Amino acid sequence: MTETIAGNPRVSLTGYATASAWAHFGFEHAQWFSTLRGRALFLPMHLGCRALRTVAPAPGAFTETLYWRHYWFSEWAKSQAPGLAIEIGAGLSTRGIAYAQRHADMHWVDYDLPDMVRAREKMLAAHALPTNYTLEAGDLLAPHLGAALTAPNNARVIAMTEGVTDYLDRAEKQRAWQAIASLLKRLGGGRYLLEVHPRDRIERFGPAAHLVLDALRRISGRDMLDQLCADTGEAIALLKSSGFADARVLPESELADAGRAPPPAERAFALIEAET
Ligand SMILES: C[S@@+](CC[C@H](N)C(=O)[O-])C[C@H]1O[C@@H](n2cnc3c(N)ncnc32)[C@H](O)[C@@H]1O
Repeated sequence: MTETIAGNPRVSLTGYATASAWAHFGFEHAQWFSTLRGRALFLPMHLGCRALRTVAPAPGAFTETLYWRHYWFSEWAKSQAPGLAIEIGAGLSTRGIAYAQRHADMHWVDYDLPDMVRAREKMLAAHALPTNYTLEAGDLLAPHLGAALTAPNNARVIAMTEGVTDYLDRAEKQRAWQAIASLLKRLGGGRYLLEVHPRDRIERFGPAAHLVLDALRRISGRDMLDQLCADTGEAIALLKSSGFADARVLPESELADAGRAPPPAERAFALIEAET
């Protein structure tokens, strides 16, 4: 087990809300992780968003945005046809389990901090997991994350963090992205997907965005607005200075359409694909 030196387990609370959102939206196996705590966080927020939608469509689509983010990450993973997929800060996602069940020729590894891994293990005890799926304690900010992993034969390696790095300040983001870039390089090169909520997008949502950021500040103990990148350009520059050879915002044309929720007219995040 990787030694935990600086992870922030406080942010795992929001992972319970997203797990119940994913169960609500029908993602495969997501009901395994939909807890009372998650529903108590998600359902009032979802009903509030629905009520808000008629007067303020953009912030009113917030809970649907949770659907789209998760959906797009999963679609991106599928499109890469990886031999090894590494998700860090997986929280209560079942994406890796569902993917590994369908693709026996690849290996999916979910990492999270020890408390979250223990919570997942408890909830997974009643379910049979595919042998090509692994859940491990691992800290994005600790040295040697993924040291035991080996490169697949002639197949792509991918890494993902969904809902993780915006909780980190700039120095931590850099350490996290350096850790991912060096892991991918050691495994022969690969691609990394993350979302960023740049300040210039957040500001478009007005007071509603500040209410959400304030709630996240209380949960995470961090001044969220201060530590977000100013724009996607800053995030891309930071990724490149952390060891990625290239990074780009995924354009709308590459984000597949889906039918279970109305697409957000505006979203507060951009998806960035980086490559070593
Ligand atoms: C906001 S939750 C997001 C979880 C999930 N990816 C989602 O989209 O709902 C952030 C997750 O990152 C994990 N985390 C926080 N700091 C971490 C670190 N340094 N290394 C690994 N995981 C971390 C938390 O335990 C939590 O599960």
